[in-house]
Amino acid sequence: MTGTEPSGRGPDIRIARITPAQLSAYKTLRDEALRLHPDAFDADIESEQARPPESYLGRLGLGETRGGSFLLGAWLGQELIGMIGLERQTQTKLRHSAELNSMMVRPEHTGHGVGLKLIEAAIGEARQALGLEQVVLRVSTSSQSAIRLYERAGFQGCGVLPHAIKLVDKGGQVRYFDKLTMVLIL
Ligand SMILES: CC(C)(COP(=O)(O)OP(=O)(O)OC[C@H]1O[C@@H](n2cnc3c(N)ncnc32)[C@H](O)[C@@H]1OP(=O)(O)O)[C@@H](O)C(=O)NCCC(=O)NCCS
Repeated sequence: MTGTEPSGRGPDIRIARITPAQLSAYKTLRDEALRLHPDAFDADIESEQARPPESYLGRLGLGETRGGSFLLGAWLGQELIGMIGLERQTQTKLRHSAELNSMMVRPEHTGHGVGLKLIEAAIGEARQALGLEQVVLRVSTSSQSAIRLYERAGFQGCGVLPHAIKLVDKGGQVRYFDKLTMVLIL
């Protein structure tokens, strides 16, 4: 956001890359996201919660010399209140493309422009990456606020995969969620 932020925490938020020493805070926020929003993420909390923080080291993109792979955090003081990730494809024919993922803002901090700050920062970093031409994401069509945010940042929808997510609750009740693919040409 620019100087037009109407209210809220926008100006106090610091967006910065998550470092290896901060992976524990990342893991806490990630588990919270998976628990609260099972329809929004492909990973499930039951499989992920036992993973140690250091197992996410590869997501920091430290070995990606041309850029385009990173995790960004939104910090309010010492508290990690939001995050976003970019993961560059590794195969030669796909290296011009990266996937945006792990977008989440703690519920008590939503609606104050933190999400927009995160996505704008991620796009800014993506534009610095050598040879990166496009960013792709998949978002559940149930996440209308997220879709509006991505559109505001310049992403365009390019197709819906029906029944992309299948959730079965403890009583055996099944719910399906469709996923919209969106792309931003850098
Ligand atoms: C999607 C998500 C990341 C958005 O984060 P956020 O910090 O609330 O995003 P923003 O504050 O930038 O925008 C959200 C809304 O607040 C509004 N807003 C932003 N700043 C505002 C302010 N200062 N005053 C009033 N409204 C404001 C925006 O206009 C937007 O409104 P809309 O939903 O009607 O379009 C968050 O809701 C979330 O974590 N959702 C669950 C996980 C998820 O779905 N992730 C996406 C996976 S693909």
